[in-house]
Amino acid sequence: MDWGMKNRLSRIFKQDGRTVMLAVDHGYFLGPVSKLEDPRKTIEPLMPYTDALMLTRGVLRNCVPADSGVPVVLRVSGGNSIVGKDLSNEGLTVSMEDAVRLNVSAVALSIYVGSDHEHQTLLNLTALVDEGECLGIPVLAVTAVGKELEKRDAKYLALSCRIAAELGAHFVKTYYCDDFEKVVKSCPVPLVIAGGPKLNTEMDAINLAYKAVRSGAKGVDMGRNIWQSKNPVGMIKAIRSIVHEGATPKKAQQFLK
Ligand code: 5RP
Repeated sequence: MDWGMKNRLSRIFKQDGRTVMLAVDHGYFLGPVSKLEDPRKTIEPLMPYTDALMLTRGVLRNCVPADSGVPVVLRVSGGNSIVGKDLSNEGLTVSMEDAVRLNVSAVALSIYVGSDHEHQTLLNLTALVDEGECLGIPVLAVTAVGKELEKRDAKYLALSCRIAAELGAHFVKTYYCDDFEKVVKSCPVPLVIAGGPKLNTEMDAINLAYKAVRSGAKGVDMGRNIWQSKNPVGMIKAIRSIVHEGATPKKAQQFLK
């Protein structure tokens, strides 16, 4: 791996090889989703506890100070909406030239394995990897399921993650599931997990992060379970303690008090 690529990855994955990424890219197909209506307000208090921010260029340019110092993982796929016909119908939405201009540490896109647009989204990935390899910019593949949340089992996620890695993704974002070790073992690049829709309690999300890291995930790229919590700062601190300090869920819970 070239120096530039390694350098960018080391901004995201800290010395322990793990990361707490904050996902705030949801507006690209969900619009002003609850608690992210004003991204600046949501992001600002969480920045000191964030290893990398995952977001779109619109929110980056308008809501994040350029001197913040937090590494950026830029979402570069989209072209769909929650009220449209098919969430899997995504294209690439940002040129690599603009990603370089924004000094991002990685670019991210969704792949929709098994969907009507599987082929298109996988070719989006390979095109991005080709450009990323030229410029030293890592590519994060998100194994998206759209509205079909029931797809999130080990067989499907192992398939999607492995395909992403085979096609050149430098790291993969997926969901935690039963038998998650199988997903980790069959994927030769680092995995981080999304939180998914807000769970019933903060402890549910803390337990999810704990089980994922214990099973081999290199961290989280979590959104709603942090910023839709009643205590977003406490929640991100709790998740950090799980990811970076090996805290138990009980110990992590102290940050919520
Ligand atoms: C949307 C995304 C989100 O970044 C991802 O789902 C993570 O956020 P959450 O923890 O809220 O699921 O990629 O497509």
